[in-house]
Amino acid sequence: MALNLVMLGPPGAGKGTQAERFARDHGIPKVSTGDILREAVHSGSELGVAVKELMARGELVGDDLITGIVRERLSRPDAVAGFVLDGFPRTAFQATALDEILAERGPVICVEIQVPDEELVRRVRSRRVCEDCGANADAFEHKLGALPDLCQNTERCRSIGPKWVARSDDSEAVVRERLKIYWRDTKPMIDFYKSRPTFRVIDGLQTPEQVREALVSAVASALGMPASQLRSMVMKKLSGVHVPPRGVRQG
Ligand code: AP5
Repeated sequence: MALNLVMLGPPGAGKGTQAERFARDHGIPKVSTGDILREAVHSGSELGVAVKELMARGELVGDDLITGIVRERLSRPDAVAGFVLDGFPRTAFQATALDEILAERGPVICVEIQVPDEELVRRVRSRRVCEDCGANADAFEHKLGALPDLCQNTERCRSIGPKWVARSDDSEAVVRERLKIYWRDTKPMIDFYKSRPTFRVIDGLQTPEQVREALVSAVASALGMPASQLRSMVMKKLSGVHVPPRGVRQG
């Protein structure tokens, strides 16, 4: 059975953190629209040039553009047996398009992580990422001022030196703009998913480990099985599967 998981929630809720862990633990790709766009900006591609300013202001990029990117990414062979989608959909247009893209592809589990706004602002303002590979420094684990000297994510990061930076859209003013857009455009779209039997909500104020466990339970319950059954299904599948290294930008 395909494991199609959509992570929903506001900026800073922990979608990326949990999507990455879930994808790694379950041997499926993490598809993050934010990561794809940031990689494009980083590489200076045509797409990156087109979206750079919009992203820095915290605005959404065009529905058609981002939907085309997701459609292409989910059509690749590695996503056929499942995926974790992070950052998409964000508007009613995108939600409708996703239904169309995923028609005939098995159940789609939607999990919303809920966190109060002030905690979101705190988290996002303290977030640091590796300027080279985009990996999150996990500021909540290392605390600012006590970050490991070098990003440990790739050989290149380990050799070129420390480059922990704030994301260009993580200033307080831009985060508040992103939250405004979230409450205006995305939250009503999430409410639309609530009536579906595979929709679940998680309390994102728990520790990352607790959220991780809650996510596994939520997915298992949406699939109508105990978490232990999901785990053993995954263990069977993972024997022999190559799992990509943690936090590497995916495009
Ligand atoms: P995107 O990258 O998707 O940003 P976002 O949705 O605003 O989410 P964030 O990445 O800020 O937060 P997150 O929920 O992933 O939290 P994280 O795990 O990092 O999008 C960026 C931009 O791209 C958009 O503004 C837009 O311009 C464009 N874009 C992307 N998708 C688009 C689309 N579909 N349509 C149009 N435009 C699109 O965690 C945050 C911090 O908290 C981290 O430091 C983490 O370590 C920490 N943390 C995580 N969990 C916990 C916990 N349980 N307790 C304490 N700290 C925690």
